Amino acid sequence: MHNITRLLLSGCCAALLSAPALADNIGMPGNMPKSYAAECASCHIPYAPGLLPSKSWLGIMHSLDKHYGTDASLDPKSVAEISAWLNQHAAGSRKFAEPSPDNRITSSAWFARKHREVGKEVWLRASVKSRANCAACHRQTDKGDFDEDNVRIPK
Ligand code: HEC
Ligand code: HEC
Repeated sequence: MHNITRLLLSGCCAALLSAPALADNIGMPGNMPKSYAAECASCHIPYAPGLLPSKSWLGIMHSLDKHYGTDASLDPKSVAEISAWLNQHAAGSRKFAEPSPDNRITSSAWFARKHREVGKEVWLRASVKSRANCAACHRQTDKGDFDEDNVRIPK
């Protein structure tokens, strides 16, 4: 009897303790439009909407012809569909909503803070190439999971 109670208790509390910090599991909303996978994940990973505030997403969607050194223009129907979805799931009042000067996730203050310990030479490795290449180190970006337990810096 006592043993069972103890077992139940430890089960409950171990689960609570190991729950990942919610704020770092940005999550990929289930209703991702097909156009987002097709048009916004061909050159890089599909960035989760919760990584940028709505203002930044709209800024990006309004300047796709000048997209970080490339042309990512789209038909108006896809632009409208993707913009609405990004806007709906954009970062709210949490830390990921901090403004970014050029609408990059990688230019935000939280990004610099969280990656303070990553050395300058690491970003230049052939296996990493760019700060924007989240998936080089975060192995579950497709689930919007950036938990530190799932980080591995490649050689
Ligand atoms: C033709 C290729 C291409 C397409 C299509 C494209 N992008 Fe990009 N995107 C880039 C490049 C190149 C960068 C800069 C990457 C770097 O600095 O390493 C970038 C960067 C970004 C960044 C900033 C990453 C950072 O540094 O924080 C966001 C956000 C982004 N893209 C969103 C989108 C969205 C939304 C779409 C679809 C509407 C899209 N991209 C379509 C090529 C593309
Ligand atoms: C060179 C490898 C590397 C790249 C590329 C990288 N990160 Fe990270 N990231 C890390 C490391 C290392 C940490 C710190 C883990 C820790 O706290 O021990 C981290 C931490 C984080 C955290 C905080 C996690 C936590 O549990 O506190 C977030 C959120 C995050 N990264 C998002 C991103 C996003 C989004 C991108 C792409 C735009 C990205 N990272 C690109 C290595 C990387």
